[in-house]
Amino acid sequence: MFGPTESELSDLDRVRLAQSFGEIAAAYELGRPEYPDEALTFWDDCGAFERGHSVLDLAAGTGKLTRLLPVICNLHAVEPLTQMRAEFSRAVPDVEVLDGTAEQIPFADCTFDAVLVGQAFHWFDPQVALDEIARVLKPGGGVGMIWNTDDIDAASWLVDVADEKLAAVAPPVIGEHSVVEIIDVNSGFGPAETFECRWEHLTSVEGVLADMLSRSYVSVRPPDERLAVLTRTRQAIERQFGSDVKTIPHPYRTTTIWSPLVEATPA
Ligand SMILES: C[S@@+](CC[C@H](N)C(=O)[O-])C[C@H]1O[C@@H](n2cnc3c(N)ncnc32)[C@H](O)[C@@H]1O
Repeated sequence: MFGPTESELSDLDRVRLAQSFGEIAAAYELGRPEYPDEALTFWDDCGAFERGHSVLDLAAGTGKLTRLLPVICNLHAVEPLTQMRAEFSRAVPDVEVLDGTAEQIPFADCTFDAVLVGQAFHWFDPQVALDEIARVLKPGGGVGMIWNTDDIDAASWLVDVADEKLAAVAPPVIGEHSVVEIIDVNSGFGPAETFECRWEHLTSVEGVLADMLSRSYVSVRPPDERLAVLTRTRQAIERQFGSDVKTIPHPYRTTTIWSPLVEATPA
């Protein structure tokens, strides 16, 4: 297994790895999946997407989540890395993406009905970010989080490359605690609800290799090690699908969370 486990990462490691996304923004856009419809339906059922709602995609990256959000809402995005924002603006030109972090969200108090976080809460300083998210939410609003993780039980080629991707580090766990536990200790949010589903992202060899390259644990490795990882990945794909495969089904498990802002009790 390469690299440290999530619980062994120091704050400095976390910042360095989070910044590595800037170097691989194009690979991220090419290789990473979007999110399944059922997850969006779950948030809709939780009340996130009523007509005219203001919705923030926080840590929006290249906009993989933003582009799925319903246009009946007023959509906003925040992303700290310049290269990710550049890919975002190409992919989702109708939504403005602002520079900012989860720990300092560049919006006024009580701005949003929903703040959504795709594949990113584990990069935040969790309680600082939750307090900041609570600050920008309107009464009645809530926070949503989502993670895709490789469904390694569903495909043997994924088992072959699992240790490259540190697949054992399966958000939504941060260190010793599940994200649900982390939300539950924050007094600003009510109990978190979770929805799980499994689905397949149809991709290509180039897509799988770009996905691999965009993993922070791979992108920070020296060039020869990165190349070795990509070679082993291509070999694993060819073992299962043959060398002239065009479409590769990449199975994912998706965990979606919603937690409502706690209503202030009158003094
Ligand atoms: C795995 S990408 C997810 C991007 C996008 N949300 C998606 O669903 O594809 C993680 C993103 O979190 C951003 N990020 C890392 N630390 C952050 C922080 N403290 N505040 C806001 N964004 C952060 C990174 O710049 C990167 O774009």
